[in-house]
Amino acid sequence: MGMGAVVLGIAVLSVLAWAAYLAARSRVRRRIEKAPLNQTPYLDDRTLENVRLNRVLFSALAASTILAILLPVYYLNEQGRQEHATERLDEIAAERGHEWYQEFKCGDCHGPSGGGGGADYVEDRSGLTTSWAAPSIDDVLYRYSEEEVRFWLVYGRPGTPMPAWGTDGGGPLNSQQIDELIVHLSEIAVPQADLVAQVDARVDLALSRLAGADDTVAGLIERQRAEIAALEAAPSQLDAIGGAPGRLETLLTADGTCTEASALLYLAPCESPGADTDGDGLSDAAEVGLGALLAEVVATAPASDPVLILEPMAFDPAAAYTTDDGGTPVPDLDQVERAIAEIDLIVRNLDLAVANNEKLTAAALDGLAFLEDAAAARRWSFDFHALAPAFDGDTDRAQRAVGLFNAYCARCHTAGYSAGVAFTMEAGSGAFGPSLRGGRSVVQFPDIADQVAFLVDGSENGVQYGVNGVGRGWMPGFGSSLSQDDLELLATLVRSLP
Ligand code: HEC
Ligand code: HEC
Repeated sequence: MGMGAVVLGIAVLSVLAWAAYLAARSRVRRRIEKAPLNQTPYLDDRTLENVRLNRVLFSALAASTILAILLPVYYLNEQGRQEHATERLDEIAAERGHEWYQEFKCGDCHGPSGGGGGADYVEDRSGLTTSWAAPSIDDVLYRYSEEEVRFWLVYGRPGTPMPAWGTDGGGPLNSQQIDELIVHLSEIAVPQADLVAQVDARVDLALSRLAGADDTVAGLIERQRAEIAALEAAPSQLDAIGGAPGRLETLLTADGTCTEASALLYLAPCESPGADTDGDGLSDAAEVGLGALLAEVVATAPASDPVLILEPMAFDPAAAYTTDDGGTPVPDLDQVERAIAEIDLIVRNLDLAVANNEKLTAAALDGLAFLEDAAAARRWSFDFHALAPAFDGDTDRAQRAVGLFNAYCARCHTAGYSAGVAFTMEAGSGAFGPSLRGGRSVVQFPDIADQVAFLVDGSENGVQYGVNGVGRGWMPGFGSSLSQDDLELLATLVRSLP
């Protein structure tokens, strides 16, 4: 833009200068002219062919020289101008991609800046609700080509919480929006050095998850038992406090304990109000009764958020405002309104638990049996000593290989891994990616070097790999994130899986 303006400016100025020169000359000539033109002798041949001609030729040469200098400069600048325009278009695409990322809540699962996260997920085999790990996608373009990423965005990944986003996959986004999302993904990409620097931390995390697996599952079992106990206790709890909402209403509306303000909470009249010493709209009798009622509900109801809200509430017939938790004093009438809502909620939840008690208990027991089986079978576990021979007896390297596998491969090659340890099947049992057990890799890649090369690039759609592998472009490449040594560890591990 700058250079173009300069050239245009020079051209316009030259034309103007030329026009001015002509105008001035003709005016000067008109002033001095006395004789008519046809009687004035014109320049003689010698002047015309020497001085005059030279002058004209010299001006032409000067003009050509200027052009010869300016045009290349203009040309060079033109490329930059185009690049600049493309850059600007990319910027717009990235901004819009960022908008789609926000609007369609990619961050709810993948983290606000794509660093990874999780999604609520009901596990099929157990019926339990768990969280499915969503991978980081601020590095996805290091392992997949743009084309491959486009495929995941358009079609999602069936069988996982990743929805289809493109119209072709039944999603809401057109192909331009998908392209813009991909530009955004390249925009948020972490530097490759970070990717490499993350490896050890990821390996440690995977290994500590393994080390803590027994405790994790024990914790889940404990939670499940508590849920079952709560279901068992629900009928008697409902018997005890099912009438609380009604008793609360009586307290606030009945003659002798009502006030006009408290009865109004139920849109009822109050004909003979009780004494209200602190003038807060609750009778003294109601405030005393409320204290007892709340204490009873809190003591009986199963632990829950509403109970936590009721617990600190206190009513004093001599104080219009009650400070419950050291915070801002709340007017008693407001507090009682809140108490009505929370007690209703507690009783409604108990009602539900009792009405569906058999079904809920049966499902919870199934879940418990699943977890107890997981705790006993420990399908997630590795025997590092048994693995060591494949690593020249080095258990540390065997352990690193396992950490690498769980950090980078298990989410696709180990069934259930993304749903948590309790749901994990044997390492490499096959999930979204094929099973890697039973020496399959040795058949597919007789030479380990070919397998390592496959891990570097991943698969490509329509391109054969190994002896009889048909690539769909679904297996990512790890050449940008893992070292040759780590990839060799992985290949060694995969080849020795029982
Ligand atoms: C409900 C949760 C959820 C939402 C919302 C979601 N994703 Fe995903 N996404 C996942 C999960 C889970 C996976 C991994 C599936 C698996 O385990 O194979 C995934 C996988 C991916 C992958 C493939 C990564 C890989 O290496 O396997 C990409 C790319 C991706 N998501 C991008 C997006 C984008 C962009 C959006 C927003 C338009 C989005 N996701 C919204 C849950 C979600
Ligand atoms: C995003 C899912 C995903 C991840 C992560 C993944 N893979 Fe794969 N892998 C696949 C899929 C899918 C295939 C099948 C090829 C295809 O469909 O393109 C495959 C194929 C393979 C094969 C060839 C299997 C055969 O016998 O044909 C090997 C070996 C392999 N993966 C090893 C690994 C290792 C090691 C890692 C970790 C560094 C890993 N994969 C990470 C999805 C994944």
